[in-house]
Amino acid sequence: MAFQNDNPTFLLFGKSGWIGGLVGDLLRQQGARIEFASARLEDRAGVVADIERVRPTHVLNAAGLTGRPNVDWCEDHKIETIRANVLGMLNLADVCHQRNIHLTTYATGCIFHYDKDFPEGSGKGFKEGDTPNFTGSYYSYTKAMVESLLKEYPNVLVLRVRMPIVADLTYPRNFITKIIKYEKIVNIPNSMTVLPELLPLSTEMARRGLTGIMNYTNPGAISHNEILELYKQYVDPEITWSNFSLEEQAKVIVAPRSNNLLDTARIEGEFPQLLPIRESLIKYVFEPNAARKAEVKAAVRSMRGRV
Ligand SMILES: NC(=O)c1ccc[n+]([C@@H]2O[C@H](COP(=O)([O-])OP(=O)(O)OC[C@H]3O[C@@H](n4cnc5c(N)ncnc54)[C@H](OP(=O)(O)O)[C@@H]3O)[C@@H](O)[C@H]2O)c1
Repeated sequence: MAFQNDNPTFLLFGKSGWIGGLVGDLLRQQGARIEFASARLEDRAGVVADIERVRPTHVLNAAGLTGRPNVDWCEDHKIETIRANVLGMLNLADVCHQRNIHLTTYATGCIFHYDKDFPEGSGKGFKEGDTPNFTGSYYSYTKAMVESLLKEYPNVLVLRVRMPIVADLTYPRNFITKIIKYEKIVNIPNSMTVLPELLPLSTEMARRGLTGIMNYTNPGAISHNEILELYKQYVDPEITWSNFSLEEQAKVIVAPRSNNLLDTARIEGEFPQLLPIRESLIKYVFEPNAARKAEVKAAVRSMRGRV
C-alpha cells in the first residue's frame, strides 16, 4: 500500500496513557500536526467519527489495557481485556485499512519466552516472523492473538515494546523504578525499550510508512542485576538488593511473566545509530541521573522506604 507521507496529520489514541502522553508531547515538540482521539477503540462509529473529524494520514495507537497495578488484573477481567486489546485493536486497524490510513500501534514483545530453541544467554533472539511462544498471562495471550491477526493488515506497523524505561527513576511504570522498589528481583537478561531513544524512531517509522511487525527494543539484553549495578555506579554506591528464582517469584504474582531476547536486525537496518541497551541506558538514564545524584538518591530512598 502507498501512503501519503509528506506533511502528515497524526491522530493519536491513548493520550491519557503513559506512552500515549509521551508520544503526544514528542509530536508537539516536533511541530507536527497532531490531534487526539476521544473514541473507545471498540466503538466503531466513534472511531470513524474521530477519523472523519481529523482526516489523518497517520494514526498512532497507544491505547490498550495493561492492567492496574499490573497485568495480573487481566486474569480476572478477561472480557474487558478482549474488548480493548482484541476487538478494539482490530476495529481500529480495520477502519484505518478501509480508508488507506497508516496505523502504528505500540504493542508488546512480551509474547516470547526463552526455551530450548532460544536459550537464555545464547544470543539467539526471536525474530519478527517467529510465532509467539508465551501465552502464560491473559494479557500476553490476547496480545499474541491479536498480533497474529494484525499482521495481515497491509497498513499496520506493530511495534513490539518491552519493559519500557524512562529517565525518571521514581515514575512507577518505569521498569527500573519497579526493580528498584521490589524487595526481591529475578535476575534474567531481557530486551528492553529505552523510550527517550526509541519513541522518536516510531514517529519516523510512521512517516516512512513502514508496515508489518517490528521488534522495537534496543539491541542486546541486560539483566536486572546489571541495571542495578549501573544505578549503584552512577547514583548510589550503597544500594543493596536480593535476588530470587522464577519459582519464588511465581509465589508473589498471579500470572507468569515473559523473559526474552528479541532480534533487532530489522530496526537496526532502519536506524543503524540505535544504541545497544547498556549504552542507551547510560546515555538516556544514568548519566542524566548522575548529574543530579543527591536529589535522585534521596527520592529513590524514600520511595523504597514506602514499599
Ligand atoms: N507499560 C508497559 O510496561 C508496556 C510494556 C510493553 C507494551 N506496552 C503496550 O504499550 C501500550 C501503551 O501502554 P501504556 O503503558 O502507555 O498504557 P497505559 O498507561 O495503561 O495507558 C493506556 C491508555 O489506553 C487507553 N485505553 C484503554 N482502554 C481503551 C479503550 N478500550 N479504548 C480507548 N482507549 C483505551 C487509556 O485511556 P483511559 O484511561 O481513558 O481508559 C489510556 O490512555 C499498550 O498497548 C501496552 O500493551 C506497555
